[in-house]
Amino acid sequence: MYLLGLQSKKILMKIPNLQEAQKFLDDAQEYHSGSWMQHSIVVAEAARAIANVHPGINPEFAYILGLLHDIGRQEGISCLRHIIDGYRFLHERGFDDAARICLTHSFPTKDVKVVAGTWDCPRKDEYFTREYLAQISYTIYDKLIVLCDSISLPSGFCLLEKRLLDVALRYGVNEYTQHKWKATFGLQREFEAVLGQSIYHLLPGVVENTFGFNSSSRQRIEVSTDNIIS
Ligand SMILES: [Fe+2]
Repeated sequence: MYLLGLQSKKILMKIPNLQEAQKFLDDAQEYHSGSWMQHSIVVAEAARAIANVHPGINPEFAYILGLLHDIGRQEGISCLRHIIDGYRFLHERGFDDAARICLTHSFPTKDVKVVAGTWDCPRKDEYFTREYLAQISYTIYDKLIVLCDSISLPSGFCLLEKRLLDVALRYGVNEYTQHKWKATFGLQREFEAVLGQSIYHLLPGVVENTFGFNSSSRQRIEVSTDNIIS
């Protein structure tokens, strides 16, 4: 576990070290590999790139949390069950701050109604998530991984608008969609206000990956957005 010096306080973060985190992801291949693993690496790289220029975030911790945010997907194809599975996997090993990210990364606000997808888990797990979120205040790490999850395809970084639209096309929209989108754009603005620049300046390949065109070869490239959960 790590001891993080943040501002004037020492904050204990219960997260695995980098080698442990990478081993968790490597081992997951034996259970259920898929594009979610490459997506997780892209989220980690986005988180580290932003953390590198953010005064209040440890880049290595950001990378580790990004790597593990979807670790619950090793249990197989699922929708919201993956956040509970990931939470339990890391909580049982004592990595509570990494476990927390598994729960929070799907919620740009703490209102569970805004989530896309179905609760394919026992009702008690939905209640647990609702209670858990109600009792915490989002940290900069919670917000960072929510944002990075929303700009990361398996093939690389992309425009936030593309990912939000992709999720809406896959899962549909409801009366909370507008609220969710506004909250996610709010996170982008919050980070950019601190960074003093667009997050996209820090993320190479956004244009190519968003629009599916390689400017060097002048050819279309395949950008898959529909199989992150497989
Ligand atoms: Fe994700």
